Amino acid sequence: MKKVTVSGLLKKKQAGEKITSLTAYDASFAKMFDEQGVDAILIGDSLGMVLQGEDDTLPVTVDDIAYHTRSVRKGTARAFVIADMPFMSYATPEQSYSNAATLMAAGASMVKMEGGRWLCETIAGLNLRGVPVCGHLGLTPQSVHVFGGFKVQGREQSQADKLLEEAKALEAAGIQLLVLECVPASLGKAVSEALSIPVIGIGAGKDTDGQILVMHDMFGISANYMPKFSKNYLTETGDMRKAVALYIEEVQNGVFPSQEHSFE
Ligand code: KIV
Repeated sequence: MKKVTVSGLLKKKQAGEKITSLTAYDASFAKMFDEQGVDAILIGDSLGMVLQGEDDTLPVTVDDIAYHTRSVRKGTARAFVIADMPFMSYATPEQSYSNAATLMAAGASMVKMEGGRWLCETIAGLNLRGVPVCGHLGLTPQSVHVFGGFKVQGREQSQADKLLEEAKALEAAGIQLLVLECVPASLGKAVSEALSIPVIGIGAGKDTDGQILVMHDMFGISANYMPKFSKNYLTETGDMRKAVALYIEEVQNGVFPSQEHSFE
């Protein structure tokens, strides 16, 4: 079995093969997703909402992510493991170095940070110190109070142009993956075409280089609500392993996300 690496993910983009990813927070689900062939597993700060029952991701700590990263790493043999940097854990470059070190030591192969151009110095500094970085643009949930709710981003042309420029700046600074959340499908396509690195969409339409879903949404078991961009694969299959396999198949074949799961 060949382990997925960041260069393997890049090759998939270059070959036009879709990248599949899911969040996971423990060893058992990580093992299940890994065995079904998911390319990347994210220990997302979404755990604040789906595991801890919080209203948003802001209360999540570096220790929370490190704890779940250790569990996920133990369940993962093949997939690429990415750990989220929680709210305010990368407010300065120095802070990001020490917190990224904790998450890499816990078993992550890359860390993810939300934000645009202001992160460029931090990204370059992390790269120099051996830490690969995944960017996150669009609806960045740690900024929910700035947005005034969980709202689709980039609908106005000026916002879309700004987001595209931010994505290019992040790539130039050294990110090797980009998560793009809740933007119109046309913008998902434009960003994916403009960047050389893989763009993983969640609510960003069918034309990104890959897809990610929060596992609880994909199984339809999230406590509070089901986002429009997600799909309940468990109802359709009646079996968790089959649900994951169908999700992978539908992403690879371009069936998911359909228009129903995308924004205009
Ligand atoms: O925290 C998370 O799970 C995420 C995904 C929604 C991409 O950032």
